[in-house]
Amino acid sequence: MLRTHNNGELRLSDVGKRVTLIGWVAKKRNLGSLVFIDLRDRWGYTQVILQEDKFKDVALIKNEYIIQVTGIVTKKEVANKKLPTGEIEVSVEELKIVNSSELTPFIIADETDALEDTRLKYRYLDLRRPIMQKMLMNRAKISKACHNYLDRNEFVEVETPILCLSTPEGARDYIVPSRTRPGSFYALPQSPQLFKQLLMVGGMEKYYQIARCFRDEDLRADRQPDFTQVDVECSFMSQDDIMTLGEGLIAEIWKEALGMEIKTPFRRFTYDYCIDTYGSDKPDTRFDIKLHDISSILKTSEFEVYKNASTIRCIVVPSVASKTSRKVQDNLDLHAKKFGIGKFGFFKYCNGKLESSLLKFINEELQAQLVNELALKEDDLVIVGAGNRMRVCSCLGALRCQYGKDLNLYDPKSYDFLWVVEFPLFDYNEETKEISPCHHPFTKPLDRDVSLLDTHPEKVYAAAYDIVINGYEAGGGSLRIFDQTEQKKIFELLGFTEEKIQKKFGWFVGALKYGVPPHGGFALGLDRVSMLINQTDNIRDVIAFPKNLNAVCPMSNAPMPVDEQQLEDLKIKVETK
Ligand code: AMO
Repeated sequence: MLRTHNNGELRLSDVGKRVTLIGWVAKKRNLGSLVFIDLRDRWGYTQVILQEDKFKDVALIKNEYIIQVTGIVTKKEVANKKLPTGEIEVSVEELKIVNSSELTPFIIADETDALEDTRLKYRYLDLRRPIMQKMLMNRAKISKACHNYLDRNEFVEVETPILCLSTPEGARDYIVPSRTRPGSFYALPQSPQLFKQLLMVGGMEKYYQIARCFRDEDLRADRQPDFTQVDVECSFMSQDDIMTLGEGLIAEIWKEALGMEIKTPFRRFTYDYCIDTYGSDKPDTRFDIKLHDISSILKTSEFEVYKNASTIRCIVVPSVASKTSRKVQDNLDLHAKKFGIGKFGFFKYCNGKLESSLLKFINEELQAQLVNELALKEDDLVIVGAGNRMRVCSCLGALRCQYGKDLNLYDPKSYDFLWVVEFPLFDYNEETKEISPCHHPFTKPLDRDVSLLDTHPEKVYAAAYDIVINGYEAGGGSLRIFDQTEQKKIFELLGFTEEKIQKKFGWFVGALKYGVPPHGGFALGLDRVSMLINQTDNIRDVIAFPKNLNAVCPMSNAPMPVDEQQLEDLKIKVETK
């Protein structure tokens, strides 16, 4: 027997028992003739004590060696309150060094100052840190909750291909060359979107899959090139039914992983409300700074920029006016520049009146209106942006989040769940006047807007919905087009020729002729949900073997060149510049 107990298990009630433990040496301390070792495994730490003169090998033992000890559980004179096993220790009678270890490149402990690339290079050591193990265990609880919940709701788990053709989620594909058809390529799925719709055509009615997805896009703290979705699709269910199902799934995850009861239904905000009020389609509503539309007041001022602006919005930041120096304002202006809007206007409300370099353009009546409209309080700072609606709103939206965080306006451990609904069907490029799908080209327009498709496609909204948690897009979905004429119309509007449709989606579109049921679904980003459950803002923390921001795995060094022979088999020539 390698062990009688694990290292997180022994308590006062075990005192007097003879036990065998095995694990990694987390810490070794010499105190006179006694050696204290903290033994670690997945379950925790146990302190074991050895008499130096009894065990000649004890001097050899270093951190991260694996040792096996047999001894008697005794009560500790002074308990270590920080450990669940802190009231006992094991007095060792037999010792075996099971394996040795080289000096590790960083200390295996929750607190670490190791660089992330070093941690990723030695991920197997990084994963020994209890905090990392806890995050992976929480992730497993999330998957389990999804399986349980969806199974209980009669969903059937179906796997879909990894080697397939392009699936339309708007990112660049990862492609895989074919040996049997030289010059042809598979694409890795950006999501199982088209397959799950075909499963509905195939009569499955309720499908789910914990699916790997691949997208070659610019990486961020919440994006990985290969990531996991809890992917769901169902037939004969309304948008409300599907959203209720999604809320139930989230509630089950929070219950299983954190023991938390969360309240459903979640609030539902329209896309336009979110943009206008929070400057984002994934708003964090845990703090109260909102965007205000002050166009009607400032447009009538004498300031040329405001007179000519299509949108004038502001945020009011509490208790910072007196601390906001010229330098801070210059830095904020740099932020505005990044979003492609001109400089901000700054108004401070100090000693009961407005202060601003712009006051000379704004008469007293307008100033009073501004104070009134914004219900200004002492030391409020008003930051005004003017110009294109989306740019101004997103710029102020990013700023409100920064202030919310910097000023500790919310409890970072709290959760805020909401749905964003009524997304535009298309993204409209004002410069090129071209439209592209906002979600994907199979998303159903809202029934109320179908008549606008021919005349004002940019004004058509979609039966699409996103689950937003703490400012993260945790999931999204939509009802799908099930009528072939409607699908054809959307393709036409997107400027797809019949030839392009057949080439890209012919395999899918053909199925629309055969009695497609009304259907829809959603996908939760499992990694993002896992980030939220684990209270981390780094997606790599919740993935066992992630890629870095350059989409490289520092451990295996993937991607790598392949052998000449492999390239020859594939009839591929690589040109290195
Ligand atoms: P969407 O593209 O919105 O929808 O993706 C669904 C969810 O997947 C997560 N996600 C990501 N997570 C980590 N890294 C990435 N690169 C990444 N990209 C997306 C997000 C997102 O909300 N087929 C549709 C779903 C549907 O309509 O049913 C789809 O994939 O949390």
